[in-house]
Amino acid sequence: MSKSVAKIKNIKLINIRQILKYKHMKKTKILVTGGTGYIGSHTVVELQNKGFEVVIVDNLSNSHIEVLDGITEITGIRPTFEQFDLCDSEKTKNFFTKHNDIDAIIHFAAFKAVGESVEKPLMYYRNNLDSLINILENIQLSGIKGLVFSSSCTVYGQPDELPVTEIAPIQKAMSPYGNTKQIAEEIITDFINVNPNSKAIALRYFNPIGAHKSAKIGELPIGVPNNLVPFITQTAIGLREQLSVFGNDYNTVDGTCIRDYINVVDLAKAHVVAVERIIENKTKFNFEVFNLGTGNGSSVFEIINSFEKATNQKLNYKVVARRAGDIEKVFADTRFANEELGWKAEISLDETLLSAWNWEKYYRAKKSLLNKE
Ligand code: NAD
Ligand code: WQD
Repeated sequence: MSKSVAKIKNIKLINIRQILKYKHMKKTKILVTGGTGYIGSHTVVELQNKGFEVVIVDNLSNSHIEVLDGITEITGIRPTFEQFDLCDSEKTKNFFTKHNDIDAIIHFAAFKAVGESVEKPLMYYRNNLDSLINILENIQLSGIKGLVFSSSCTVYGQPDELPVTEIAPIQKAMSPYGNTKQIAEEIITDFINVNPNSKAIALRYFNPIGAHKSAKIGELPIGVPNNLVPFITQTAIGLREQLSVFGNDYNTVDGTCIRDYINVVDLAKAHVVAVERIIENKTKFNFEVFNLGTGNGSSVFEIINSFEKATNQKLNYKVVARRAGDIEKVFADTRFANEELGWKAEISLDETLLSAWNWEKYYRAKKSLLNKE
């Protein structure tokens, strides 16, 4: 046998051995709490698309089991799903005993309605903080590499300087919901201080909007939406009569409030990058914080115009009084996330609003079909 033939045979053998090795190699396993929720479901899709094994825990308090069908249709993989309340410490412990091979956690599960949190503060403190503490206790017990935590730009209040950076001072929370995010970041800081083998990343989202481009998953608010974009799509489809624009006398380009609206798929991709950063030991600090936004501020009128242009729908709206507690303008300085995570929001506002509209149409058509059956 000539030397070159032997070399080729050798290479082939190595390749086959490698394939066999990878076939038997365990996939990296991520626990996604709140994984049937809005941001969680989009993140599960991106994780599965990148080859991660996902297990979801959700008590379905603000989501539906059918979301799993949407995820399966998009990715071809049905994630493992366990339904229970993460505030139940016994059930949470049993879960981690059963799934003793989890590498990292993305913790979305929380209540998120600002107004409701003012009405029912204890319900918010109990749900959002008990669940986090249970998760952290099990990280400590089971040597899991770390946690990605859903935080919010709400911690900045009305910042003195815009765009707002991660080192801007945290302002007194405007609601119990906002306070749970501030306290949660403090709890994580204290936990990581004494458990330096685990790493944590808090992602402070600005305003997540839109849906997966397939329209198989999206945002599904229960009852009357509080947030702008679901209210717009529900008005356009005829479920709500009119959108109320809360104030046009702010000190902004057109008098309406400014926010940093970020596409939910872009946001989901940032979670994949963050979890990889933890797993691959690339974190520079034991607890890191990143802003997730586009870096651009848009006014309410700009959102309405973009929606009308992208979808060819005329929106019925009127200007009403300001909404109590609204911040005038806030948008992210995204340089730290762009440079350090190597992540950048890419999807345009028009495309994002079109995706929200396509999801609304798809969901309502599916629902009316089911109701007829
Ligand atoms: P969502 O309500 O759609 O998803 C949260 C999921 O968690 C739901 O499916 C709910 O059933 C589940 N859940 C809640 N409490 C639970 C518990 N105790 N045990 C098990 N499951 C539980 O919300 P979302 O918009 O996807 O938000 C995800 C996270 O991001 C939340 O922590 C939220 O506070 C945060 N966040 C959201 C926004 C936003 O505008 N959507 C902005 C900033 C931060
Ligand atoms: C956006 C803009 C409204 C509805 C909330 C939470 C925050 C964070 C993101 C989780 C504002 C205006 C809205 C309507 C309107 N969530 N608006 N008519 O207020 O930036 O933030 O979601 O962490 O904590 O507070 O988002 O979508 O409610 O409002 O004119 O019917 O749209 O006044 O200027 P917001 P939003």
